[in-house]
Amino acid sequence: MSHRGSLVLLGHNQLTRRMVCHATAAGWHVAVATHDPGTYRDPCDRCEDIRFVVPSEWTFPGLSGALRRACVTRITAVYSTVDQRIPLAIELASALGARAQGRDNSGWQTDKLRQSELLQAEGLPLPRSAPAATREMAVKLADDIGYPVILKPRDMNGSRHVCYCESAADVAVAWDDHAADLVDRKHSLEFMPDLLVQEFLQGPVYSVETLTDGAQTLIFGVTDRVLSPLPHFAELGAAFPADCAPQLAGQMCAMAGQAVTALGVIGPAHTEFVAGESGPVVIEVNGRMPGSPITTMVGDVTGVNLYDATLEILAGGSVPAAVHHDGAGACALEVAPTVKRVRDVRDGVRYVTCHAATVEQAREKLANLGLPLRGTGHPSERTFGEYRR
Ligand SMILES: Nc1ncnc2c1ncn2[C@@H]1O[C@H](COP(=O)(O)OP(=O)(O)O)[C@@H](O)[C@H]1O
Ligand SMILES: [Mg+2]
Repeated sequence: MSHRGSLVLLGHNQLTRRMVCHATAAGWHVAVATHDPGTYRDPCDRCEDIRFVVPSEWTFPGLSGALRRACVTRITAVYSTVDQRIPLAIELASALGARAQGRDNSGWQTDKLRQSELLQAEGLPLPRSAPAATREMAVKLADDIGYPVILKPRDMNGSRHVCYCESAADVAVAWDDHAADLVDRKHSLEFMPDLLVQEFLQGPVYSVETLTDGAQTLIFGVTDRVLSPLPHFAELGAAFPADCAPQLAGQMCAMAGQAVTALGVIGPAHTEFVAGESGPVVIEVNGRMPGSPITTMVGDVTGVNLYDATLEILAGGSVPAAVHHDGAGACALEVAPTVKRVRDVRDGVRYVTCHAATVEQAREKLANLGLPLRGTGHPSERTFGEYRR
């Protein structure tokens, strides 16, 4: 098989493991930069010759020194499946003349404040939002914006510490919860203490899935979200294509295309929206693959394997010519019995993805597996109760 050079993968999740398998099959030499090679034991039977690189620190000198010591040469592409490492992946790639998932390493991929400044400059509709450096400042900003508000970290993801607040007391609790959780030792990440205080937008949540090769953006369509009950926003499930009015879908797809172009994303992205009364509002752009169940679900329906398509772009290729739609997909969390609260949802859960002729039938398949998910936006407490086994 022809070799495409070395691909450096940064990350520590299921997406990285999948990328390892697809990249080795496509003829890359793969080096995985990780603080914990143990999590990659046997990602697949083809991956015997992947190399692990353990940086002394997650900085450009730390990573490039580790790659040098491990004799990783001919690096032609770098990809991070984790938001927090994307700026470093881009920095490394540009120093080496390699490809990555964009050109801008100013940090918008992990800093929501920086991202909102860039999107605002594009004229895209965003929620009213301001950064708070102290708890008192957060309460003051919430008063100014008007309750209910959302408190959210500048640099976390997976809805972690995104909290709905109806009062100053709620803001204080959300602030303290976040302040006590700024170091993720398991994934070797440290987070900013600041929180954004944001206008709460009422309405269903959607995401537009895209793939960009630098010249062209392929828009797969819109997925919906089933969320845990307030005050948290854990994603319990999703379906594709979302059941939303064509005009709304068209508006969101156009905005997502504009956003990924403005941010200079290369490869897959998912742009999240709340469809409010006065139209869709951009919640955030993630300049990487969505979580693996959504990547699988969209791939099942459109026939585009996002891992292979991303690797093709990292090798200098283009987006696939067109997307066909074969039925619909739905996915849901299978919550482990140890999960007691929404806050625990990130641990001990597994997604199940189903493909069928329609979203209803895909959701019915999930229901037959004991995962009954209905509707979009916020399900009732009762719906989540079904998951609290
Ligand atoms: N201003 C808002 N109004 C309503 N819901 C919001 C708002 N901001 C975030 N959410 C909900 O919280 C989820 C997580 O917020 P997001 O900003 O996407 O953070 P993360 O990076 O953790 O995914 C969103 O997908 C959405 O469901
Ligand atoms: Mg999000």
